[in-house]
Amino acid sequence: MNIISKDPSAISSANMPDYEKEYQEFSWDQAKEELTFFEDGTFNAAYNAVDRHANSEKKDRLALIYESDTGEKETYTFSQFKELTDKFANVLTSNGVQKGDRVFIFLPPIPERYIAFLGILKTGAIAGTMFSAFQEAALIDRLSDSGAKIVVTNSELFPRIEKIWKDLPELKKIILTEKDNLPEGENLISYHQEMDKASPNFEIAHMKPDDFAYMLYTSGTTGKPKGVVHAHADLLQAILTTKYVLDVKDSDIYWCTADIGWVTGVVYGVLGVWGLGGTSVVYGGRFSPESWYKIIQDHKVTVWYTAPTAIRMLMGSPVSPKQYDLSSLRHLCSVGEPLNPEGVMWGKETLGLPFHDTWWQTETGSICITNYPSMDIKPGSMGKPFPGVVAGIVDDSGKELPAGQEGHLALKPETVYSLMKQIWKNEEKYQSYFQNGWYISGDQAYKDEDGYFWFVGRADDVIKTSGERVGPFEVESTLIEHPKVLEAGVIGKPDELRGEIIKAFVVLKQGVEPSDALKEEIAAFVKGKLAGHAYPREVEFIDKLPKTRSGKIMRRVLKAKELGLPTGDTSTLEEF
Ligand code: PRX
Repeated sequence: MNIISKDPSAISSANMPDYEKEYQEFSWDQAKEELTFFEDGTFNAAYNAVDRHANSEKKDRLALIYESDTGEKETYTFSQFKELTDKFANVLTSNGVQKGDRVFIFLPPIPERYIAFLGILKTGAIAGTMFSAFQEAALIDRLSDSGAKIVVTNSELFPRIEKIWKDLPELKKIILTEKDNLPEGENLISYHQEMDKASPNFEIAHMKPDDFAYMLYTSGTTGKPKGVVHAHADLLQAILTTKYVLDVKDSDIYWCTADIGWVTGVVYGVLGVWGLGGTSVVYGGRFSPESWYKIIQDHKVTVWYTAPTAIRMLMGSPVSPKQYDLSSLRHLCSVGEPLNPEGVMWGKETLGLPFHDTWWQTETGSICITNYPSMDIKPGSMGKPFPGVVAGIVDDSGKELPAGQEGHLALKPETVYSLMKQIWKNEEKYQSYFQNGWYISGDQAYKDEDGYFWFVGRADDVIKTSGERVGPFEVESTLIEHPKVLEAGVIGKPDELRGEIIKAFVVLKQGVEPSDALKEEIAAFVKGKLAGHAYPREVEFIDKLPKTRSGKIMRRVLKAKELGLPTGDTSTLEEF
């Protein structure tokens, strides 16, 4: 195998030069020294990510370097961030926000969403984030389940909320971020007008370390998306992994390409990097090889955290990275879906640096299994557990399996500091993750003789398309709202570029004529109702869906048929 060895200078200059030693000696209790608690033992993640740096010699250091899609640049120091987030926290409390309330952010990538996120944390309310690609079906699920009290959005996105507001009795006010031409109406608030009036000093909420800080909706096989809730002190693992895995140092310019609607954007675009007092780049434009390479070049990005689909798009593009000066780069990481060995090697061959794969989930709140700057890479492997974290491969009864044997990728829950604290209003779902003393991730994997973990696949029907997690049920529910659709079954179909694409098998209502135009109409219908990324790129009409005798769609059978594989145990299948 093609092992990538690290040279001695890379090892000695890494924030964690000796992984094995650190793993042996690590304790979460000792690691807590990275955090600043208030004198009464309480805590606030936003104090740690902003105020403590604004009160230190880092106060004039840039926290955020922002470039918009049209190339306008803005920068914010930690002390400017402190003032703005204090102001926003005052805006929220003067509009009735209290500890424990849910305040959701529905914005494109602009600086206000970072100010809003940290301001919400300062009040003790729970911050929720959503992709700006979400349409009304996705929005209503999240805003009604969470009972959000305020949404921070802009005039362009507001009409999507306006349409569903009547069905959201707990949603009291909307804050709009533009300076001019705001829609007017009852309970519509201007961000800028309120910020201008607000005091720049806020009495930050003193929270218990386990009090809730933020929540993110994520998909499983069944049912609607679930609200995964994280606590203030989960920040500890975010900071430590930013330090030891992403290797961020004071001299770095760090760029995490993830959107804040995804947990990576929250944990590694906000909490980890600012918790550590680092400088972060945010790009407000869309992906293109040209624009991304230019961001690295112009801002002299040194540490880059991105995702496999983007890496594959760069690999397949005629635009060569050689046309840009990317010599500032010194450490590359990837997350969200399997990173093929070719992706790791492309980094090494074209940028002179291999990508370091990292594994975690919305539920785990931070990186859990990963590759390190000081550790040799086996391309295709997710690496080894983070210090403090105990991971294993287990069978159905929770028994650990020997090296080389495939099983459930599981974690000892008490060893994952940032593990979710709750599934919002769904204790049964929360408990279902814990079996025989393990947290069961839902992924299948194996461990090799050297302790490296290798991803095999999902144990359930969850789809990963361009790194985004999509539940087949959500897509199916939206499909059957189309007036010509009777039933639908949705699977992830392997795709070289996107990892998987969403494929829908659709049964049409009686008398409806199938056609290519109808396929397009149905795909566009889902895109317009659910989300820009969660629509079927392929639609196939079939006469009947494979179902169990109790009526559950057997997506596994659809997938096997699609891939030309044996369908496996079909004893529960009704006639098909
Ligand atoms: O299946 C695994 C895949 O993504 C899932 C978690 O999705 P989500 O909660 O959206 O992740 C957010 C931040 C990572 C996992 O259960 N996954 C994630 N990282 C990897 C991965 N699959 C393979 N390799 C990875 N490095």
